[in-house]
Amino acid sequence: MRIKTGIEGFDEMVQGGLLAERVYVVSGPPGSGKTTFCVQYLAHGAALGEVGLYVTLLESPQNIIDDMSNYSMNVLTLIKMRKLLFADLGPRMEYGYMDEMNEYITPEYEVATSASEREAPSPSIVFKEIAAYVAEYNVKRLVIDSVSAIRFTTRDMSLQEKEMSRFIRNLKKLGCTTILISEMTDPSAYSTEQFAAHGVIFMHNFLYDKTMTRALQVIKMRGTKHDCNMRDVNFNDQGLQIRGLLE
Ligand SMILES: Nc1ncnc2c1ncn2[C@@H]1O[C@H](COP(=O)(O)OP(=O)(O)OP(=O)(O)O)[C@@H](O)[C@H]1O
Ligand SMILES: [Mg+2]
Repeated sequence: MRIKTGIEGFDEMVQGGLLAERVYVVSGPPGSGKTTFCVQYLAHGAALGEVGLYVTLLESPQNIIDDMSNYSMNVLTLIKMRKLLFADLGPRMEYGYMDEMNEYITPEYEVATSASEREAPSPSIVFKEIAAYVAEYNVKRLVIDSVSAIRFTTRDMSLQEKEMSRFIRNLKKLGCTTILISEMTDPSAYSTEQFAAHGVIFMHNFLYDKTMTRALQVIKMRGTKHDCNMRDVNFNDQGLQIRGLLE
């Protein structure tokens, strides 16, 4: 079954959508549109009645909700309908508190005071929290922003890779169609999550001839005959829009 992202121009690139219950990675540099792409994906599903969960590890959900409210994705309505959920699993001791606007939005980031509070959550803690949400709210579409914030709980590289692979294997069993956001610093070096995922999408954001150029490229998508070209990305009132070949 193909899961439509609803992002204009994208589903056509991947034979109509993402294969259900698989794990994908969206990688890109800062400001390349990763969050916008993923919230659009969740909002599209939510409007069709599929519950979407956006897990933040670095930023407060409120900032993302505020930014995405500029688009016509109906983020606030979908949150109130409990079809769109935001969970803050950032480096804090307490994240059980719910604010009054919506009981499914966790509060603003608090500045950590002790070393244990500053520690990034381990893959197993993140997975346990997510699995509880998925079971309780029957989540179908899942986004984790970002997986780069999980990895560095140990300095041992081989241990990090093992942890990440196990984390992705566990996610595959959840029954959700999942997108992991990963920060891209070096486009020529592939990361563990990119190897382990079913599909990888790159979002580019670069200066070309003094103009900021945005592009999207499907790097891999198992089981799918996909478009491999760099495609022009544009923002409109709905969010991102994928257009023709990058000139
Ligand atoms: N209405 C708009 N029109 C054009 N560009 C916009 C508009 N709104 C936001 N942007 C661009 O989108 C960028 C933010 O997109 P988004 O938050 O999805 O990126 P990101 O890849 O998640 O970034 P980060 O790595 O910081 O999390 C902004 O930096 C800005 O350049
Ligand atoms: Mg972002």
